[in-house]
Order: sequence, then C-alpha cells, then structure tokens
Amino acid sequence: MKKITFTMLTLLVLLLQLQVHAQKKLSNETDEQKEQRMAWWLNDRFGMFIHWGLYSMPARHEWVKSRERLTDSAYQQYFDNFNPDLYNPREWARMAKAAGMKYAVLTTKHHEGFCLFDSKFTDYKATNTPIRKDLVKEWVDAFRAEGLKVGFYYSLIDWHHPDYTIDNNHPQRPNNPADYDKLNKGRDMAKYRTYLHNQVKELLTNYGKIDILWLDFSFPGQHGKDHNDWGSEELLKMIRTLQPGIIVDDRLDLNNYDDGFDFVSPEQYKVAEWPMRNGKRVHWETCQTFSGSWGYYRDETSWKDNKQLLVLLIESVSKGGNLLLNVGPTSRGLFDARAQKALGGMGTWMNVNSRSIYGCTAAPAEFKKPDNALLTYNPTTKRLYVHLLDYPLQRFDLPGMKGKIKYAQFLHDGSEIKMRNTDNGDVALDLPVLKPDVEIPVIELILQ
Ligand code: GLC
Repeated sequence: MKKITFTMLTLLVLLLQLQVHAQKKLSNETDEQKEQRMAWWLNDRFGMFIHWGLYSMPARHEWVKSRERLTDSAYQQYFDNFNPDLYNPREWARMAKAAGMKYAVLTTKHHEGFCLFDSKFTDYKATNTPIRKDLVKEWVDAFRAEGLKVGFYYSLIDWHHPDYTIDNNHPQRPNNPADYDKLNKGRDMAKYRTYLHNQVKELLTNYGKIDILWLDFSFPGQHGKDHNDWGSEELLKMIRTLQPGIIVDDRLDLNNYDDGFDFVSPEQYKVAEWPMRNGKRVHWETCQTFSGSWGYYRDETSWKDNKQLLVLLIESVSKGGNLLLNVGPTSRGLFDARAQKALGGMGTWMNVNSRSIYGCTAAPAEFKKPDNALLTYNPTTKRLYVHLLDYPLQRFDLPGMKGKIKYAQFLHDGSEIKMRNTDNGDVALDLPVLKPDVEIPVIELILQ
C-alpha cells in the first residue's frame, strides 16, 4: 500500500512538473521553427549597434542624465538645440557594410526618454527639435537600401516620462531610501506601461518589416524594475503578433519562459564559453563599444585597437556567437574619425577573410585548438579556419589532424600552405617566415 501511494505521489509530481514545463512557453513555436526564424542572424554574425540621442550633445556618456542627476529642465537645452544637420544615414549604412556588418540596431529611444521617431504619444521627439525630422524613418530606408537588416533598440527605462516611477538608477533617485514613496506620489506605472506598449506598437507598425527588437533593460529588486513593471508577457505576445519573424533580446525579464527571449546578450565582456541555459547551449550576441561609452563621448581615450576588435569578432564566432559593435555618432550626425578608422580596420580584414565569419560557428570538439589560435568552422562547406593571433615561426602544428585535411591555404590570398603528417598524428604546416600583411592571418583547411 505504502509503495502504491509512493508511486502515485511520484507520478503526480512528474505530471505537475510536466505541466509547469508546458506553461513555460509563451507561444507554440517549435525549436525547428525558431532555428529557421533565426537562420539569417546566425549566418550573418556581425552587426552594428548605434547609440544616438540627445546625450550626443553633452558627449560624456548616454547615462549623463542619471550620472549627474540632471533635472528635466537642466537637460532641456539639449532638446532645444538638437540639430544633426550633417545626418546622412546612407553614409552610415555604407560604412557598416564596408566593415562587413550585415545588420544594424538603432536606439529609437534610450533611457533619457527622447524619441528619434515621430511618435504620436509624446512631444519629446526629434520632429519637435530644430532638425524637425523622423530620424528613424530615414535610417530604416537608408539601411534597407544598402541591403542591411534593420533592428530597433527601445529603452524600457524612461527618465523623462512623468509616470515612470523613480527607481534606483533614475536621475531623481533619493539619497534616503525612505523618500521613494514621497517622490513617486502621483506617478502611475500603469500609465507608463500603456505608453511603452503603444510606442513599441508604433515602431513595429509604421516602419515596415523590422528584423530585430532590442528592449533594454530589467533590474529586478527593491527600487528596481522587472517584467511586471513592463507587462513583459503581453508585450512580447504583441511583438510576435505584429512581426512574426522578429528576433528579440533577453532583457524583458522573461527568462523563466523557454521562449521569453531569442538570444542572450552578454555586454562588454567576453564569454568564457558558449553560454548555456538549463543545460542547453543558447543563441547569443555580445554587444561591445569601441571605447567605454555607447553614446558619443568626446574625451574618452580608451579605444580598442584593430586587433582587439578583430579578436572580439573571431572569438565570438569561435564560441557560436554574434558581435554587435557600437558606434555613437556625434550630435551633428557623423561617425567621428576614430569610429571611421575602427570600422575601416574591420573592413580591411573582412574584405578578404569574411569566409571564416559568415556561416561559421564553433568547431566540432574533435578539432583541437592550437596554441595562440582561434578556430571557426563552416558546417555547410565543412571548412575549418585557424586564426593566427600570434604569428608563429614557420612550422605550425595542428594537433590530431593527421589524415583529416585535403588542402590548406591562406584565406586572404588563396595561396597554398604545404603540409605533412607527423608521426604523432599531427599535421605540420610550413608557413612563410614573413607574416602576411594581414592583422590576423587565417588558414583555411579543406577537410577530407
Ligand atoms: C546597458 C546600458 C545602455 C546600453 C546598453 C547596451 O544596458 O544601460 O546604456 O544601451 O546596455 O547593451
């Protein structure tokens, strides 16, 4: 009897677990359908992030309003004088494309609350500044015309909306936690929530097909904001209804759902290995800046060099991920000289090496990574790419590759690299002493 009761109990627990699991989905899309929806993004690997807003005028970080605890009236001068007269998004798109980027994501509204698009739910928008234009509309047209996929970043956080409650990163946050209630009297998050849903709806209705939506960000906890504040479940359902093909980031605080996000978004750091959730590898994209700030920062000097940027890209792909590399245009509407140089450097390398990036992913475990190298692999063409981070002296061994390689060549010029099997199962490559004139030379291995 005892045993029967026990078995029944176990069954019940199992059933409950199953149900909980079943509840963990917001849609009924299958894994295969999801892969198909994301196929272009998984292939393209490299995109441009663009952070542009009023904060390009103070030019000292897009968080300037919060960092310096500026009031709305102190910030108003940026709105009154915002006039990016040199804005030519077609030029931006050409530079993105020349760098090898295949998609781009623009901040339609950042935390400051200012909208680059012509929203009918606010006056705090570009069309009411001296430039008097829907900057998003022009951007979308320009990027599409250059053949790039288009994505919108939209800030969940809003430091301008009068109903958005003051939280621990708001410019008007109190020094004394006891003062939150007093400060939030009269503010109504439900009203802000409606505003947020309305604006996302506008963005996904008025600008044609949108390929990516980047919502930013949740910070659960006391005096923070989570999925309840945003109405995230409803929001995501609406997004999927309006744009069934869209790819959505993971910052809605819906991580409890299997399909509460399409990819994870490690920011400003290199992942040690392919990120996992519930024991499964997940799609991922790291977003990174050239320097420390997302918005244009005039006096910042910590710019990554060409090699560092290339390693970011290659290493991401070598662990199955994407790179979204950010530019913060100036308030005149230009990419400054530093950004242009950085993009140019990426382009020079990508021009001859992009075959080791597009369509590539982590190499299967059977291929061992040589020292000071990064591997990527194209599962369709079955080619393996060895990126030489530290150019070796002539002989270069590929561990355990004996009998697995048909032909080896440098990718940048398609020149043969002689090879021979060694007694211990490796393949020894015979590289020229002189490092080819490529920042990171790539060896392309055509496998048996
Ligand atoms: C952060 C920052 C923000 C930036 C974003 C990009 O969440 O708040 O300024 O837009 O990351 O990933």
